[in-house]
Amino acid sequence: MAMLSTSLSGPKSANSYCAPEFSGLRRLCPNSNNVNGNSHSQSFLRFCSPRKPLKSVVAMAGTGTFFVGGNWKCNGTKESITKLVSDLNSAKLESDVDVVVAPPFVYIDQVKSSLNGRIEIAAQNSWVSKGGAFTGEISVEQLKDIGCKWVILGHSERRHVIGEDNQFIGKKAAYALGQGLGVIACIGELLEEREAGKTFDVCYQQLKAFADAVPSWDNIVIAYEPVWAIGTGVVATPVQAQEVHVAVRDWLKNNVSAEVASKTRIIYGGSVNGGNCAELAKQEDIDGFLVGGASLKGPEFATIVNSVTTKKVAA
Ligand code: PGA
Repeated sequence: MAMLSTSLSGPKSANSYCAPEFSGLRRLCPNSNNVNGNSHSQSFLRFCSPRKPLKSVVAMAGTGTFFVGGNWKCNGTKESITKLVSDLNSAKLESDVDVVVAPPFVYIDQVKSSLNGRIEIAAQNSWVSKGGAFTGEISVEQLKDIGCKWVILGHSERRHVIGEDNQFIGKKAAYALGQGLGVIACIGELLEEREAGKTFDVCYQQLKAFADAVPSWDNIVIAYEPVWAIGTGVVATPVQAQEVHVAVRDWLKNNVSAEVASKTRIIYGGSVNGGNCAELAKQEDIDGFLVGGASLKGPEFATIVNSVTTKKVAA
């Protein structure tokens, strides 16, 4: 269910709102404590200052190509995946979007050999070092051997269900990047962390763990996925998503470089669907999506990919 109105836009506590158009991140409140030159107030100021529209693309703060990933998670059978691939092969996808799908490991080979070359394959996880005696794990070397170009790391289901921590995820990212895989690096806060005003702190810690470990940001896409929005049908509002994306980009600028901040795609994930993607895509710091449930339906996934068109206007 697409939820874009403020009242249905996700978790919040009444006291955490400082302005009606805001989404509950107390640290963004424009009070005297915040207007002191720190990155939070910078984010706020930037958020409040509409940028000069560009000529043909009005809504991209970053310079990277729009990126949409489909995370199929632990879903599908040979039969359903055959149908999904066939739907994706016949879908008309805008050319200026990088598109990837992440099937369950056991179906990667089937998908790789039947999906047309327009869409690249991501794995949903990878082992932290070279393969060997690690029962139940899949190595980066094996993923490359089978044709994967990307891997999703730090997904909330691996953090909070499986128990992977920031450092372990950072090491995984470093290893995968070192072997030539692109990394979709997921970050995002739990509901209680948002309600406690810790959204930025949590995201920054998760970003720092990646930054401390990786040799370069060249092949990293950041997926901001608030945990309370994943698989719940409670999508972040465009404003909620945009304000965290701005903060993430500012963090990259202040802690990595302006160039990395500009070229790194920051995509949003959490209950994105065919009905809500257009409004989200219009936000200038939303550079694409990581999609779970809705990526299991080919035509709907195509709609999400094609939401890039909402970023464009006539010159
Ligand atoms: P969802 O999952 O779209 O089903 O909420 C998103 C994700 O986990 O990447």
